[in-house]
Amino acid sequence: MRVIIVKDYKEMSRRAAEVVANRIGKKPDLVLGLATGSTPVGMYSELIRMHKEEGLDFSKVRSFNLDEYCGLSSDHPQSYHYFMHDKLFNHINIRPENIYIPIGDVENANISCQWYEKKIKEEGGIDLQILGIGRDGHIGFNEPGSSLGSRTRIKTLTKETIEDNARFFKKREEVPLYGITMGLGTISEARECLLLASGTNKTEAIQKSIEGPVSAEITASLLQLHPRAIIIIDEEASQNLRQKDYYRYTEKMAEKLERK
Ligand code: PGA
Repeated sequence: MRVIIVKDYKEMSRRAAEVVANRIGKKPDLVLGLATGSTPVGMYSELIRMHKEEGLDFSKVRSFNLDEYCGLSSDHPQSYHYFMHDKLFNHINIRPENIYIPIGDVENANISCQWYEKKIKEEGGIDLQILGIGRDGHIGFNEPGSSLGSRTRIKTLTKETIEDNARFFKKREEVPLYGITMGLGTISEARECLLLASGTNKTEAIQKSIEGPVSAEITASLLQLHPRAIIIIDEEASQNLRQKDYYRYTEKMAEKLERK
């Protein structure tokens, strides 16, 4: 795992956008796994800026979102379909036919989950998966107790997740109780993962994910087993890391090597 500690949310967003732009530069038809929530919004803004000012080209990029609420139609303002178009897709040149987001309002969700898995494979697998992290350590909607080998499926959301996401809805009762999410097995198969976290409410989840045991209790800890995982976190989110000084030192040494 490569742990990069930066000053604040702005720098986290900029560094993350640089990673994405770099991978698109190397592979214009990158298969990009995307995430929702407030964490990646700054990175999306920076990617939009890079597209408009520096010509970052998304015309061949294919994207797969991690998750979606069950029971919300794709035009619902709180759906992740709506969110992704509002925060990113409407402002870049990605082709609509290259955008994949789990469908949360289908009658037979199991068929939809299997279709999603199949589609990821058909497109060649995810090259770079962007991840946020919940206070309970979840990635996607893989709540504590999720099988580390799980595939795309429906998950019951924890009370904590519902409370955290209630800020986007008028009333807590409006937050869906279920989500459709890529599984931990699905995420592990991405060739590279990039997890972002900012702020003190992520401090504990980040410490457990990076330095605690690999466990279904904190599903982000699965990244410890991933051969190419980058974690970009700000000062506040990194507060409790025991090896914080070492991670900083490692980054400095890596930069020196790159300059040589
Ligand atoms: P947040 O959510 O980015 O809004 O904090 C992250 C998550 O729950 O995965």
